[in-house]
Amino acid sequence: MSRIAIRNLTVRYGKHDALRNMNLDIPDGKITVILGPSGCGKSTLLRSLNRLTDLYDEVSVEGQVLIDGENIHDPRADLLALRKKVGFLPQRPFPLPMSIADNVRFGPRIHRMTREDILRQIGAPADAAASRHAAMDLLVEHYLKQAGLWEEVRDRLHAPGANLSIGQQQRLALARALAVEPEVILADEPTSALDPISAQLIEKRFQALKEKYTIILVTHVLRQARRLADYVIFLYMGEMVEHGPASFLNSPRDPRTRAYVGGEIS
Ligand SMILES: Nc1ncnc2c1ncn2[C@@H]1O[C@H](COP(=O)(O)OP(=O)(O)OP(=O)(O)O)[C@@H](O)[C@H]1O
Ligand SMILES: [Mg+2]
Repeated sequence: MSRIAIRNLTVRYGKHDALRNMNLDIPDGKITVILGPSGCGKSTLLRSLNRLTDLYDEVSVEGQVLIDGENIHDPRADLLALRKKVGFLPQRPFPLPMSIADNVRFGPRIHRMTREDILRQIGAPADAAASRHAAMDLLVEHYLKQAGLWEEVRDRLHAPGANLSIGQQQRLALARALAVEPEVILADEPTSALDPISAQLIEKRFQALKEKYTIILVTHVLRQARRLADYVIFLYMGEMVEHGPASFLNSPRDPRTRAYVGGEIS
């Protein structure tokens, strides 16, 4: 698992400070929830953890985000390796224009995994598949199960991913993200576009997966934070106001956190 340390991190869009001078260590193997009202910098913080900030013009990043001791914002950092280590689940799923199975196979193909790599990664015996193709089939099943989607799609693996419901697409996105075995999973309001049942399925998957991955989740839904969080970061207007084990939500020290938890601001 990866150690993530944020040091003196300031992120600006043009002259606007979206995040100001953050310092924080993110706990391994837990669900950390980034909580706060709209516009407070939650997505910006998440983006700065895998350099999605690069996609925006006029963005400037000061300070460091260290993952396993390496500053990912260093221009010399290996971006492909970073994106493999840190998976991302957006607010709305975007299935690739291909079959359900190919969506899951996509990452392992890009990373040119061999039959042996695949079997080792999914913990299957070395003789479980005779060919790379057969190993990929096992991989597809493995990650669809981890994402809680296998039973619903096992009979139509070759149908387009886009035919699935939004809730199923989000679980497919999770399977796709898991298939390259990231160490960290970032998720930006991953259930906000989903119906309550699908949202609950995704939440359950996160709870099951946290043993193995460090999960960092953005939400502005306080109840979701209470259900899922081991650790909470409360942001307000670009500032980290309070952070710690989730239990601090029961007795916040800062008046801004109290106002948020008490429903006076949302
Ligand atoms: N690409 C951008 N260009 C300019 N300003 C931006 C950009 N993205 C975000 N901002 C500004 O930076 C601040 C933080 O935005 P961010 O998207 O991180 O907030 P958020 O907490 O995720 O909000 P929400 O809950 O609405 O998603 C806001 O004031 C926003 O307007
Ligand atoms: Mg956001």
